[in-house]
Amino acid sequence: MSAPANFIDFIDNNADKFIQRLADAVAIPSISGDASRRGDVVKMALFLDNQLKSYGVETKLVDLGEHTLEGQQLKLPPAILGKIGTDPKKKTVLIYGHFDVQPAELSDGWDTDPFTLTIDKATGRLIGRGSSDDKGPILGWVNILEAHKSLGLELPVNLKFCFEGMEESGSEGLDDLIESEVKKGKGGWFDGVDCVCISDNYWLNTRTPAITYGLRGLTYFKLNISGPGRDLHSGVFGRTVHEPMTDLVKLMSRLVDPDGKILIPGVDEMVDAPSEAERAIYDNLDYNIADIEESAGSATALSSDKATVLMGRMRYPSLSIHGIEGAFHGVGAKTVIPAHVGGKFSIRLVPPQTPENINPLVVSYLEAEFAKLNSKNKLDIECLHGGKPWVENFNHWNYEAAKKATEAVYKKTPDLTREGGSIPVTLTFAESLGVNVLLLPMGRGDDGAHSTNEKLDRSNFIEGTKLLGTYLYEVAAITSKA
Ligand code: BES
Ligand code: MN
Ligand code: MN
Repeated sequence: MSAPANFIDFIDNNADKFIQRLADAVAIPSISGDASRRGDVVKMALFLDNQLKSYGVETKLVDLGEHTLEGQQLKLPPAILGKIGTDPKKKTVLIYGHFDVQPAELSDGWDTDPFTLTIDKATGRLIGRGSSDDKGPILGWVNILEAHKSLGLELPVNLKFCFEGMEESGSEGLDDLIESEVKKGKGGWFDGVDCVCISDNYWLNTRTPAITYGLRGLTYFKLNISGPGRDLHSGVFGRTVHEPMTDLVKLMSRLVDPDGKILIPGVDEMVDAPSEAERAIYDNLDYNIADIEESAGSATALSSDKATVLMGRMRYPSLSIHGIEGAFHGVGAKTVIPAHVGGKFSIRLVPPQTPENINPLVVSYLEAEFAKLNSKNKLDIECLHGGKPWVENFNHWNYEAAKKATEAVYKKTPDLTREGGSIPVTLTFAESLGVNVLLLPMGRGDDGAHSTNEKLDRSNFIEGTKLLGTYLYEVAAITSKA
């Protein structure tokens, strides 16, 4: 059972209205990592909640408590739980998405204002922060709800929704909410869920749709090194005191080799080498070194072997160094010795790695390496946030439905991928609900999530809406046969 023709037509005929709704959403700078934007994250929650309610979804906004950010005690933005349909003869699909976004400023190098959705008529690109990650996809679901309500069409499945506003900052508070709902048993919000669908990732390339069965986890560290009571003049104090920056640069240089090898003992070793059969999966994906270098914007791939590079992203851990807080980074040649610096790095994790088994290795290695420096400065290791990796069984009707839907909408067989990024709640859903979880992307590999000029192609927004809708019909069709 593919989606009814009037549903598909409705999506085509209302494309401009859907794009306007995306523009309204992008205009709300719901940056979860910026304390001064917390009000906008809440505003975005209310915007989405209103949309859901107007198309017949019963919702509740859940208070997730408080946290500290930039030294301030802040209320977390509410999560939105929703449901529509309670037909016991239908499957119940849980939809997850996030309405917060990464920071963006024109001065980062955007060609247009990041919070004004700009439509490039020539290419069909819808450019703006959150267009692809993840406002486009969540509005895809809203488009589907609107179509069904307007056409008086019955939804093929019961739907539950879980939307959050803290994903880009480690999904604080969400695991607790899910676990407490699951503990309620019969009366819990997620009771009766048969499978989960998350649209918060991307095709590998710009040509071939994808279905995704794995994500890496994450553990994020900040190394604080302090010593002097204040910033010092290097002419007066150079070679006189232990310098925090010197210590930090030494430590950070001992984390990872330029070829990507992780130097913390036990981390790389935790992951088995692939079998020949697994390697073949990567060889067969519709992707090549040119695609990688095109999307990176440089001919700097770590290897000329495609499978090696793809496995580096999808099935091996990686360690990246992100920045140094407190370092002098302005113009000119200031001769300062910074009094305290904070070095930031993170490790992407794959099974069986978790923040719990990796963090102790990181901490004891860094403490030992710091001791070797014989520095009188102080080292304090902070773990900022983390999330577990996830790999799903793709021999399941949930994946079969997604594949059929992709073939119906795009007339192509999707790539079956694992992703290098993280969505912390994915494994929580899989484990605490005990159901199959699927990632069904809307955007393309060159959308530039988190980057400048983030975009979603108009065709991906519109065909992607059809894809998500068709997927619901395929779930109903496959499971009614089973
Ligand atoms: N949509 C991404 C996850 C993602 C990234 C999927 C790349 C596929 C490819 C998500 O919004 C994200 O950015 N997650 C963060 C999570 C982190 C803050 C815990 C990430 O991966 O950095
Ligand atoms: Mn996302
Ligand atoms: Mn993101």
